[in-house]
Amino acid sequence: MKKDGTEKIRARYDRISPYYDHMELFLEKVVFSRWRRKVFEYLDGDSILEVGVGTGKNVDFYPVGKSITAIDFSGGMLRRARRRAESKRVKVDLVDMDVQDLRFRNQSFDIIFGTFVFCSVPDPVRGLQEIKRVCNKGGRIILLEHVRPGGALLGKIFDLLNPITVKFMGANINRNTVANVKEAGLKVLEEKNLFRDVVKLLVATP
Ligand SMILES: C[S@@+](CC[C@H](N)C(=O)[O-])C[C@H]1O[C@@H](n2cnc3c(N)ncnc32)[C@H](O)[C@@H]1O
Repeated sequence: MKKDGTEKIRARYDRISPYYDHMELFLEKVVFSRWRRKVFEYLDGDSILEVGVGTGKNVDFYPVGKSITAIDFSGGMLRRARRRAESKRVKVDLVDMDVQDLRFRNQSFDIIFGTFVFCSVPDPVRGLQEIKRVCNKGGRIILLEHVRPGGALLGKIFDLLNPITVKFMGANINRNTVANVKEAGLKVLEEKNLFRDVVKLLVATP
């Protein structure tokens, strides 16, 4: 993936950051928050990294008393996450960083998680390889992701709509994230369908 692809997606998230929470308000209330809670059932390590923290919607669910670092490559999204964490008095180290090029040493975290992130990372396999590198041996990677549906017709419809969602939201709706996780060399331990085969909770290990 060329650098300008990354810049384009970063700029898109900067652009939508002021409206992001409003755009998702309804879905957040109805389903997203319920799915987020499921991710947090798995966060039982001492050192935790959230990738693609966005506006910090997961901050409300962070376990107390753990060392938590969260990254995002959009300054606009990160500013909102910082405000949210401060207003809720949540302790988290928020860092401007690209998941495709993490500035952490090998094996730095017990748990790494992301919610609806690898639909938009410009080179998802590269990002997943980086996560694998910085995860401790025996650690866990938890991903909540929407993916391309398996059915032939629905899959084609998602392919057709994909350029529109990328243009306006920076997110691909037709990624095969399970295949990407495997291609990055991660071992999938659990794959749960939360909404048909489109929204999945994945648990993997390096
Ligand atoms: C769809 S939003 C999800 C935000 C948040 N995780 C949530 O659940 O609301 C995707 C987020 O991933 C971030 N992102 C995409 N590619 C990234 C990359 N290469 N490095 C770091 N963050 C990235 C975007 O800036 C954006 O904040």
